[in-house]
Amino acid sequence: MKVFALFISVLLGTASAKVFERCELARKLKASGLDGYHGYSLPNWVCLSNWESSYNTAATNRNSDGSTDYGIFQINSRWWCNDFKTPLAKNACGINCSQLLSDDIDVAITCAKRVVRDPNGMGAWVAWRNRCQGRDLRQYTAGCGV
Ligand SMILES: *[C@@H]1O[C@H](CO)[C@@H](O)[C@H](O)[C@H]1NC(C)=O
Repeated sequence: MKVFALFISVLLGTASAKVFERCELARKLKASGLDGYHGYSLPNWVCLSNWESSYNTAATNRNSDGSTDYGIFQINSRWWCNDFKTPLAKNACGINCSQLLSDDIDVAITCAKRVVRDPNGMGAWVAWRNRCQGRDLRQYTAGCGV
């Protein structure tokens, strides 16, 4: 049964949800070049992920404008990906939003790098502005050996 479910999930191009452990995510983000990317230290990225998705790659949240936020970084379908249901979507990352829900977060990381290169930087993320910006973020990578 499990094998069959996996086969179906591979067929559909979907992967099961993955909830990262804090240090596991910190190591993955560092290995992917996010520590210091566009001036944002690693704890900023972990803090952002914590408050946006609780490290859950399958997180989705609908917004009042009809767009949806996807994945571990809660990337928005109005600007960054196409979910084929958001009016006037721009799809600046050139991806299907469902790719942002994979337990392999490489596509999400590449898109997050694109987001942060915009003039607003991490200010694009409300949770980062409210929970991370200007704070002592050492706790987010503490004990991770990164
Ligand atoms: C987007 O991805 C979903 C889930 O993998 C898939 O069902 C859908 O067909 C894809 N859409 C396009 C146009 O590729």
